[in-house]
Amino acid sequence: MEIIIANESHFKYAKIISDTISESAKVRGTGIAQRTPEYIIKRLENGNAVIALEGDQFAGFCYIEVWGHKKFVANSGLIVHPDFRNQGLAKKIKKAIFELSKQKFPDAKIFGITTGLAVMKMNYELGYKPVTFSELTEDPAFWKGCQTCKNFDVLTRTDQKMCLCTGMLYDPVAAKSEEKKVNAKSFKRLKSIKEHLFLKRKNK
Ligand SMILES: CC(C)(COP(=O)(O)OP(=O)(O)OC[C@H]1O[C@@H](n2cnc3c(N)ncnc32)[C@H](O)[C@@H]1OP(=O)(O)O)[C@@H](O)C(=O)NCCC(=O)NCCS
Repeated sequence: MEIIIANESHFKYAKIISDTISESAKVRGTGIAQRTPEYIIKRLENGNAVIALEGDQFAGFCYIEVWGHKKFVANSGLIVHPDFRNQGLAKKIKKAIFELSKQKFPDAKIFGITTGLAVMKMNYELGYKPVTFSELTEDPAFWKGCQTCKNFDVLTRTDQKMCLCTGMLYDPVAAKSEEKKVNAKSFKRLKSIKEHLFLKRKNK
């Protein structure tokens, strides 16, 4: 299995990606935004998507979208073909698109909205935090993407303040300061262990 940054040579997979998303939405019965093959092609050509292939066979896909003048990016459209599910592939794709997002847009907050437990779990492991929609992009083009979801009426009724999806956000600034705190804590702990051992030896 290979997970690679998509390019023009992958246009031939646009239809199967679009069909797999539609089929999964029907089976799950929950909200998933529909994506046409034309829409997928645009995502394949700009170097902001990853595709998983087993030989020539399509296995999975996810893409980055840029919102609010690069202040936010979203990792959207995660899909794993039913033949390749429950083998840890979504986790690998999520990690790949997360790393690509941080590399290409180091200052952007990374976010997603989802009803799926699997996605919530994966986002949490990557360092995302659950947030209200007020913390996400206000870019109307992002929210327009929800129009094809069957729960769009809920979003409209609440003036875009809430819906059935949970918003999750990775803030690079907050993540860095948290990392610093953890490092400082580990350093303090190591120092106290060393001091303890030193005193023990001295007292012998
Ligand atoms: C959701 C989806 C991407 C998961 O793909 P996958 O390759 O089977 O997932 P993985 O094997 O990498 O599993 C990742 C984690 O999610 C969990 N998981 C997978 N499917 C799950 C499900 N249906 N319900 C709850 N948890 C699930 C796994 O147990 C694993 O967690 P763990 O590490 O704690 O064990 C895939 O089922 C899919 O494409 N579904 C349809 C589209 C969809 O729902 N996309 C998300 C839109 S928001």
